[in-house]
Amino acid sequence: MPVTPLPLRGRGTRIEYGADYNPEQWPREVWARDVALMREAGVTIATVGVFSWALLQPAADAWDLDWLGDVLDLLHDGGIAVDLATATASPPPWLTTAHPEVLPVDADGRTLWPGGRQHWRPTSPVFRRHALALVERLARRFGDHPALVAWHVNNELGCHNAHDYSDDAAAAFRVWLRERYGSVGALNAAWGTAFWSQSYGRWDEVLPPRLAPTPANPTQQLDFARFSSDALREHLRAERDLLRAITPDVPVTTNFMVMGEASRMDYASWAGEVDVVSNDHYVRPGRHEHDELSFSANLTGGLAGGRPWWLMEHSTSAVNWQKVNRAKRPGELARDALTHVAHGADAICFFQWRQSTAGAERFHSAMVPHAGPDSAVFRDAAALGSVLDALAPVAGSHRGRAPVALLFDWDSWWATAQEFLPSTRLDYRRDAVEWYAAFADLGVRVDVLPADADLTGYALVVAPMLHVVDGARALRLTGYVEGGGHLVATYFSGIVDERAHVHLGGYPGALRDLLGIRIEEFTPLLDGESVGLDAFGGTGTVWTDRIDVVDAEVLARYTGGENAGRAAVTRRTAAGGGSAAWVSTRLQGPALAGLAERLLPPGVGSDLPPQVRGHVELAVRAGDGVEFWFLVNRTTDPVEVELDGEVLHGTREGPAVRLGPRGVAVLRRDPA
Ligand code: GAL
Repeated sequence: MPVTPLPLRGRGTRIEYGADYNPEQWPREVWARDVALMREAGVTIATVGVFSWALLQPAADAWDLDWLGDVLDLLHDGGIAVDLATATASPPPWLTTAHPEVLPVDADGRTLWPGGRQHWRPTSPVFRRHALALVERLARRFGDHPALVAWHVNNELGCHNAHDYSDDAAAAFRVWLRERYGSVGALNAAWGTAFWSQSYGRWDEVLPPRLAPTPANPTQQLDFARFSSDALREHLRAERDLLRAITPDVPVTTNFMVMGEASRMDYASWAGEVDVVSNDHYVRPGRHEHDELSFSANLTGGLAGGRPWWLMEHSTSAVNWQKVNRAKRPGELARDALTHVAHGADAICFFQWRQSTAGAERFHSAMVPHAGPDSAVFRDAAALGSVLDALAPVAGSHRGRAPVALLFDWDSWWATAQEFLPSTRLDYRRDAVEWYAAFADLGVRVDVLPADADLTGYALVVAPMLHVVDGARALRLTGYVEGGGHLVATYFSGIVDERAHVHLGGYPGALRDLLGIRIEEFTPLLDGESVGLDAFGGTGTVWTDRIDVVDAEVLARYTGGENAGRAAVTRRTAAGGGSAAWVSTRLQGPALAGLAERLLPPGVGSDLPPQVRGHVELAVRAGDGVEFWFLVNRTTDPVEVELDGEVLHGTREGPAVRLGPRGVAVLRRDPA
């Protein structure tokens, strides 16, 4: 893959650095000081206007864009580029007063009123009309502004309004279903409406899955999740198309959230809609904290097809929206930012530049905290600016292929989050991160990929809980194994098709023959229950299967519980030398790492020296005849890594690179 810098208008190849900048919260005399401080911190780019609608359009027929023009001029004079938001994320009070029909409605029929943000229906034609009028104003006024390098559509589309159950949503849902199924009869067949007397006679009888006496029809729920993601994507397309028509030379992005609420947007189907993939990420303190961060960054890289992307938001220190909001500890600010760079981010931005004194986010950290620039946070942020400047040679490089791929699938996430399943203790994303962490414990690199990505060249493919497997997906996975690839699928994978209908003949239906096993009944575990395995020192929780082995070797058996003595982990070797393994329970920590090691094909392993495997994460970016090796200390103990290469960031002591607690080093090396 050639070196591909972010396609920002008029920018060179560098790692951009900056933040959301909300000058409207401050008197004008602060603005000039802001720009001077930005320069001091090494800021190169600012995202402006994200929540400015009410000031830009104070009434239906009144516009005030001059202040924003002044901000853009000021930033440009200071050498700071602008990512200009379309400002449509939060509608102004005059709009929702005049048009309460734009307000979203939850599943219980409750209106979500103004007072917060993002109180708009993705399917409201009234909202769309007003939003596009604003977009057009901004594009016409600022499209030629020399500061403008990118458009930022809306903000975190779906952050608070992803699932709207209003009448607008109902009407749009029917249109979406009509396109998908063509006839009410086909809808009935797909939704299995013979069950519980749900057969529809006419389209207008069909509703979103509003609050009902029981959980709604599972296919109705899954289709509503798909529709809701598509409806937000439609909004993205509408703004983007208008922007492209007026300013074809300005790239368009919108910030994804590949964690948390992201479960509601299928970003695999969004990534192709933007000129630059961007993502927001906030660390959630706890076990696997760094692995989750790395996983999210890695998944964003996968969505970007291995090309560079933009970290649009993260925090310099504490957020304000977790139950307890911990300040970042020494080294965390740089580690978090550089982990994103390691996985392909060529722009590193924070929410936000200056910490607010008022409003809902006044206790959220910023680059300039309440304490002012004379603070550790500002100094750390400025130090990061210098590091990113020094990492300019990395910009444009793409992801160096890992030996292992981990598949990530929104359909399976949504379908396994429903009720009325064999267990409601399933956690799709948690399992994915745990498998990712297991390989990190081995020092083995993994590429997180959308589930239907090209698997060519991967020695091992891990599919945790890949529940939804239609014919095409089953064929692709079978083809991969028959071509010599090694596949690992875990419990509850392959069970249903794209309609959430169960594959018949024994589980895991779609993958049964490939795996050489047959399961007649699931045997999930109760809360607090666990079962031992005779290998890997493991204890399984959440789930077990009663496996009949048809054509597979047994890698581990249960030592207790109902399935004692039966297979827990199996592997079938296919004719071409590939294999397909099944893991029927949730393992964690060293046991899962032990299993992951056993599943690695011969010759596939870590590129790190043995002493540091598990302590250090390795991510590789590939440039033009050169590689950049990012070493991230996953621990709080200092560690020395013996590797040759020119140090772009970090400290070398003789043959070793020294990483302090949470430390990061970047080496420029010749490709192997
Ligand atoms: C994001 C949002 C920002 C800010 C930030 C706080 O969801 O885009 O505007 O609210 O979170 O962590």
